[in-house]
Amino acid sequence: MAYEFQETEEMTLLRDTVRKFAREQIAPKARELDETETFSVEITKAMGELGLFGMFVPTEYGGQGLDHLSFVTVVEELARIDASQAAVVAVNNSLGSGAFYYFGTEEQKRKYLPDLCSGNGLWSFGLSEAEAGCDAQASKTTAYFDNGTNEWVINGSKMWITNSCTPLSLGITVQAVTGRTPDGRVETSCFLVPTNTKGLTIKPMKGKLMWRASDTGELYFKDLRIPAKNILGDKGMGFKIMMQMLDGGRLSIGAMGLGLAQGAFDLALEYAKDRVTFGKKLYEHQVISFKLADMAMRIEAARNLLYKATWLRQNNKPYGKEAAMAKLYCAETAEFCAREGQQIFGAYGLMKEYDIERFYRDATLLRIGEGTNEILRIVIGKHVCRS
Ligand code: CAA
Repeated sequence: MAYEFQETEEMTLLRDTVRKFAREQIAPKARELDETETFSVEITKAMGELGLFGMFVPTEYGGQGLDHLSFVTVVEELARIDASQAAVVAVNNSLGSGAFYYFGTEEQKRKYLPDLCSGNGLWSFGLSEAEAGCDAQASKTTAYFDNGTNEWVINGSKMWITNSCTPLSLGITVQAVTGRTPDGRVETSCFLVPTNTKGLTIKPMKGKLMWRASDTGELYFKDLRIPAKNILGDKGMGFKIMMQMLDGGRLSIGAMGLGLAQGAFDLALEYAKDRVTFGKKLYEHQVISFKLADMAMRIEAARNLLYKATWLRQNNKPYGKEAAMAKLYCAETAEFCAREGQQIFGAYGLMKEYDIERFYRDATLLRIGEGTNEILRIVIGKHVCRS
């Protein structure tokens, strides 16, 4: 099979536009937003105006009608400057509008997608719970159907939900237990819960090590009622819908790893060309040039793995294994490059005044969010062992 993920002229133009925007509009504010743990409505709106939401959603629903490689390129360029802003875009595209585009009814698409594709609204992915993180089928949140009122009634809670409590948050796709399968296993379904629904309480989760300018929330549902039509997909398909969404989400989180790795490399190279020790520039010391060589080599490998996985998705081929590999490898590359980059900066790299310090902290999320490194090895293991 010929893989064709060479960058087109349109993609290069998009990459350059996003790079310029990230350098001019995000970089000057990133440190302060990180320090104060502030979500920026202004930057989100500006990213919306630039067309960074609804990227692979067709234009008839208000999307950009682009392909998945373009989306991954955008996330990569944002993460090269700031992981928090990249997270807002990655999650709202892949797990937010993606839920409607891939699983929604025509009515659900028409109602929500225009706002989600313009940056006027954000939609979150409500899978994780206090006791259901890696073991995502262990959900304790329940939903039952009230025949009298023709409504679903949801009780329970969710944790670590990105984009859920900003002034722009419009709603959450929630996985809840709706019964048992004929063979006695848990049956789950997905529901669309607008944030203004009575019975929903959302609490911001502060004090994070990383992605501090991206918003994270804890959700509580108490006898929350939504109309029958707010089910997403068929009853009983909840877990499979969530897993399929995560396959796609892992490409964009992989892009965050790739971008962060590239950003850490950029910072380290610039510093190594400037700083003089023992009478020569840092990069002229072999020990430092070897570090930069290792970083560049892993970034190249990560980029190829991620683009190939994305190309497979774009061409409607199975891509779950490759997406898990790409996310895992990009996360490990990001941590490697952030650590080696920080090492090149020496003691300066420990100071908040230097962006590499933030990159080092932001990289840690990538080995945990949207599938820990261990879970991804389980996913890859299942694929390679059954083939
Ligand atoms: N696509 C479609 N179906 C899938 C699937 C996929 N990718 N993966 C599994 N399934 C199906 C299986 O085929 C199986 O179907 P049958 O019942 O018909 O046989 C069913 O789902 C159950 O599969 P498993 O037995 O493999 O399920 P499991 O309980 O062993 O769990 C797991 C598998 C891979 C460990 C899964 O639980 C998992 O990925 N966990 C990690 C979850 C995760 O990444 N959470 C982070 C979310 S991020 C977040 O929520 C925050 C935010 O804001 C973004």
